[in-house]
Amino acid sequence: MAPLSLPPLRQVLAWATDQGMSVQGQLSEHQLAALERVFGGQEPWSFEHYEPLRAFGYALARLTLPDLPALLNVGDVLQALDELREGAVAAWPTHETVAESTFTELGYAATSASITRVRDSNSAAWREHAENNRQVLVRAAERAAGARAVVIGAGKLYDIPLRKLAERFEQLLLVDIDAAALADSVKQVGLEPRLQARLSLVQADVTGINDVFVERARDALGRDAELEVYEALLRLLHEYRLDEPPRLFPDGAMDGPPDFACSSMVLSQLATPLTQYVLERFARRFPTSERTHTREFQLALGQFSHRLQLAHVRSLLAAAPCIALSSDTTSRYTSLNAIGNVVEASTQLPLLGAPTLNALVPRLQARPVLAGQWEWRHVVPTRSKPHGRTVVVASVVADRC
Ligand SMILES: C[S@@+](CC[C@H](N)C(=O)[O-])C[C@H]1O[C@@H](n2cnc3c(N)ncnc32)[C@H](O)[C@@H]1O
Repeated sequence: MAPLSLPPLRQVLAWATDQGMSVQGQLSEHQLAALERVFGGQEPWSFEHYEPLRAFGYALARLTLPDLPALLNVGDVLQALDELREGAVAAWPTHETVAESTFTELGYAATSASITRVRDSNSAAWREHAENNRQVLVRAAERAAGARAVVIGAGKLYDIPLRKLAERFEQLLLVDIDAAALADSVKQVGLEPRLQARLSLVQADVTGINDVFVERARDALGRDAELEVYEALLRLLHEYRLDEPPRLFPDGAMDGPPDFACSSMVLSQLATPLTQYVLERFARRFPTSERTHTREFQLALGQFSHRLQLAHVRSLLAAAPCIALSSDTTSRYTSLNAIGNVVEASTQLPLLGAPTLNALVPRLQARPVLAGQWEWRHVVPTRSKPHGRTVVVASVVADRC
């Protein structure tokens, strides 16, 4: 059971209000006072508080104080928000299985195929990223104790050091929602029977909610009037709440709990099929509507995605005493200029609920021991295709507190 985050957050909000804390352009004293009232139970939660809350969590993590205020980060404040909502909304059921229809509707197989296409057209840049990512996982696996490990998002095995992990662990469970892609990737690596015998492959939805989300979204989208549909979808996004972090794999998939759990390049993508589903289906039903562009809806999508990301971090921590996590954190578009140099074509677009990966791993629950960061030229612009994309990838290895 993870330590409660709500009481320490209340304490820290009171401290910050006393200090007259503010963060320029992100958190005013007025907004801070409102947060104190909301988390003190005097006012209900509203989407308006979400951005100030995240700014507050990030400001705390950057304080150089030895004690409580600086011991909370964005992960902790998001967890406190979950705890605050406990009495207000019912917990969603979670299942690690996923229905075939949900798998198809959310387009997972198509996403896997497109990963292969992009990799094949950008192989040198992908190799560089894969090398960085593999090194993180090898170093993390070396410092983890025990003989059992689980890898989440194993999928294509492009950035996972399968052989080294199979040499290191006697039982290695590979988890992905795309079972066919996973089986095919393992076959292509072609481990010798001794190492192959250590592997188990399992299909699981690590969000735990794909089926229930699609079912509820379908219900919301089936209403009559545009406003009714919009409001039902908003409610759906706001009412996401789990009692416990979702399980990463079904019972019996391993002989015992894993000693090491890693999640490789999955975190930023967990919510995407769900938020895309909502946006695409809404646009299909109401092609001229701009309602989903409202600030309220965009914030609801962001808040939902970030809370789902936190739930994944918590799932890892619930599963194993040592975790490794890698994810793209920001993305920017690139292009080729007139003399053929790669130049930036957009600002950095955030992909996670916290400005850094570290800040999303709740400090009250984990102690980070290694961190890394690199750029991955995901799509390299060329003369024939001059638009590219570069992401910043971060990694964190942490021990459960
Ligand atoms: C960008 S890929 C990660 C790359 C992978 N680490 C590799 O080496 O190829 C993301 C992977 O996460 C899987 N995935 C996405 N959502 C998932 C979910 N809800 N549950 C389990 N796996 C998921 C995808 O099928 C895909 O294989």
